[in-house]
Amino acid sequence: MIENIINIKNEAIAQIAGAKNSSEIEELRILYLGRKGKLNSLVTKIKDLKPDERKQFGVTLNDAKRTIENLLTDKKAEVVRSLTEKRDWFDLTIPGIKPHMGHRHPLRSVLKEITDIFKYLGYQVTDGPEIETDYYNFEALNFAKDHPARDTQMTFNLENGKILRTQTSAMQGRVMEKTKPPFRVLVPGRNFRYEQVDASHGFEFWQIEGFVVNEDIRLTDLFGTIEYVLGELFGKSTKIKFATTNFPFVEPGVDTYLHCTICGGKGCSFCKNTGWSEIMPAGMIHPNVLKKAGIDTKKWSGFAFAIGLSRVVNLRYQIKDLRTLNSTDLRILSQF
Ligand code: DAH
Repeated sequence: MIENIINIKNEAIAQIAGAKNSSEIEELRILYLGRKGKLNSLVTKIKDLKPDERKQFGVTLNDAKRTIENLLTDKKAEVVRSLTEKRDWFDLTIPGIKPHMGHRHPLRSVLKEITDIFKYLGYQVTDGPEIETDYYNFEALNFAKDHPARDTQMTFNLENGKILRTQTSAMQGRVMEKTKPPFRVLVPGRNFRYEQVDASHGFEFWQIEGFVVNEDIRLTDLFGTIEYVLGELFGKSTKIKFATTNFPFVEPGVDTYLHCTICGGKGCSFCKNTGWSEIMPAGMIHPNVLKKAGIDTKKWSGFAFAIGLSRVVNLRYQIKDLRTLNSTDLRILSQF
C-alpha cells in the first residue's frame, strides 16, 4: 500500500517535470490531488490496513500530497516566467495607455474657488437641511405668515408639513440660535422653487449664503466684501454696481450687478438686454432676525448676502443657458 503511494508520487514528479503549460499543470493537479484523484482514492483503502500500518500510511500520503503540491506551484511559476521572459526587450518610448480621468463638474470647481476665497476671509463653511421647516425658511427671516414676499418664492410643500427650502438664508436662524457672535458663516446649498424653467431660471438652483455678525458692522463692510470677492472671481477690473432692493430679512437691501461677461455689456438674453447681470443680493441683517435668534441688537449687527452659484459659473464660462449645467452629456462636460 505504502509502495503504491510512493509509485504514484514518482509518477507525478516525472509528469510535472514534463508539463508545458498551465492547463497541463491543472490537469495533473486534478489527476493526482483532485477529490477523486489518484491519492485520494487510496484513502478508502485505509480500512483494510492493520492499525499500526495506518499511521505510516497517513504520514506517507500527506508527504506525497505536499511534495506534489509544491512541485505544481513551482512549475506554474516557471511557466509564467518563461512566457514573460521570451520578450527580452522593452521599448520605453512607446506611449502608454492613458486611463480616462474624471474631473470636477464646473459647478463644483467654482464652488470650491468661492469657498476658498471666503475661508481666506475667515468664514466657516457649513451645510443645512434641504427639507426645511416654514419657521427657518420664512418666519425666522422676518417673513410673517401673510408676508407678500412669500409669493416670490414659489414653494414646494411636502405632505409632512415641511417644505423644500427656497433659500439657503434658512440657515441664518439655525446658526444664530446655536452660535455666539461674532461669527462669519458661509452656507452653500441647493434650493428649490416651483419656477418656469428657462435660460436663467431652474426649479433647482445653487446659492451660497453668507452672513457676518459682529460689533459695529456697517454697510461699507458689506460693500468691501462684495467688491473683494467679485474681484477675485472675475478680475479686479470687472465692473459692478449696486442698487437698493427689498428682502424682509435685510434693511437696507442691496442688489449687486455684474457687467455681463457674456455680451460684454451690449445686452443679451442672459442679462435680459440690460448689459448687467444680477449676481449677489445682500443687505444689513434686519434686527428682527437677530432678535428672534436671541442676539442682542444693541451690541451686535451684521450683513448677509447670497451668491447665485449657477450664475457665476455661467458668467465665468460664458454659458448662455443655465440648463447646460444640469446636462449629463459628456461632450458638454468634457469641455470644462
Ligand atoms: N435668499 C434670497 C433669495 O433667494 C437672497 C438674499 C437676499 C439673501 C438678500 C441674502 C440677502 O442673504 O441679504 O431670494
